[in-house]
Amino acid sequence: MITTTVPDIDTLRIGVLCGGDSPERPGSIASGEHASKALADAGLTTDLIDIADTPLSALPGRIDVALLGLHGLHGEDGKVQGALEVAGLPYTGSGVLASALGMHKPTFKNLLTHDRVDTPRWVVIRPEVSIESTLSVVRHTLGYPVFVKPSSGGGSLAAGIAHDEAALRRMIEATNCDPYSEYMVEEYVQGIPCTVGLIEVDGRLVTLPVHDVESKNEFYDYEAKHNPDLRIEHCPSILPAPTTETMKYVARRVFAMIGAHGVLRVDFMAAANGRVTVLECNTLPGLSQRGNLATMAKAGGISYPALMKHLVRTAFTKPAYLP
Ligand SMILES: Nc1ncnc2c1ncn2[C@@H]1O[C@H](COP(=O)(O)OP(=O)(O)O)[C@@H](O)[C@H]1O
Ligand SMILES: [Mg+2]
Repeated sequence: MITTTVPDIDTLRIGVLCGGDSPERPGSIASGEHASKALADAGLTTDLIDIADTPLSALPGRIDVALLGLHGLHGEDGKVQGALEVAGLPYTGSGVLASALGMHKPTFKNLLTHDRVDTPRWVVIRPEVSIESTLSVVRHTLGYPVFVKPSSGGGSLAAGIAHDEAALRRMIEATNCDPYSEYMVEEYVQGIPCTVGLIEVDGRLVTLPVHDVESKNEFYDYEAKHNPDLRIEHCPSILPAPTTETMKYVARRVFAMIGAHGVLRVDFMAAANGRVTVLECNTLPGLSQRGNLATMAKAGGISYPALMKHLVRTAFTKPAYLP
């Protein structure tokens, strides 16, 4: 995609893409509806499009730019980005490669490890490896408890803690019949889940104030992410400055490491002993008005409508060739 100057976005037809067939579809619908309403209220021309009903091939001619409110499989993983590249339609956020790298947690963690950025130790559950062998590797390399999650998941869906080997065995056996083709087991890190948002504003990457959360559930699970009564959030974070400054620094390194563009949210665990470890990154973070990105932007002095406008402009600031 060759894009040099940022057009006046007031004159554009902005397609807000959401929905699709991802397990994170409900969150995506919220992202799309909130983004679309904020832009329309600001006088911009928007078109809310559920990609489950509308083929991407129908978009050129109907819209001038795609604001991606997609999350998870088939939306955040580079596939839609690739289709839009081929169609010649500008779209917000990262390109194909960064999206794919950000989506597949084990590949992303390999990059982190190569660059000596702390991330919990992990083992990928491979279908061709027997459960006995996997349990043996976990026993000798991670110990218990462990955290189990899909390699390409999101929203804490299908994730959980295994306190012992019997629980892990049951979880591995249950992974056969769901949409995620691969799971991973991670060293369990006791701590406070934190996130750092980055957004491009007028050609400059802005690091937003750190967000931390205490979940009333066993971890920051799907329920705690959707029920404000089950969590206590702070933004800016109340963690010590050396901890939050480390996270901000590492978040920017992650952005460069995967070759992200426009926007990124990096999720961390801040352990009680001061350890700061990267869990994952989100190339298409949730866009709901009460979501983490909007909360961090607000704490950084960026209103929700302004955040959405900055996001639209990221579609026009990509380098001439972005892999
Ligand atoms: N290794 C881990 N140790 C302890 N808790 C974890 C670990 N990995 C994830 N979690 C918990 O699960 C939540 C979601 O994990 P994350 O890796 O961010 O995946 P998702 O893509 O589902 O958001 C985290 O905020 C945290 O509460
Ligand atoms: Mg996360």
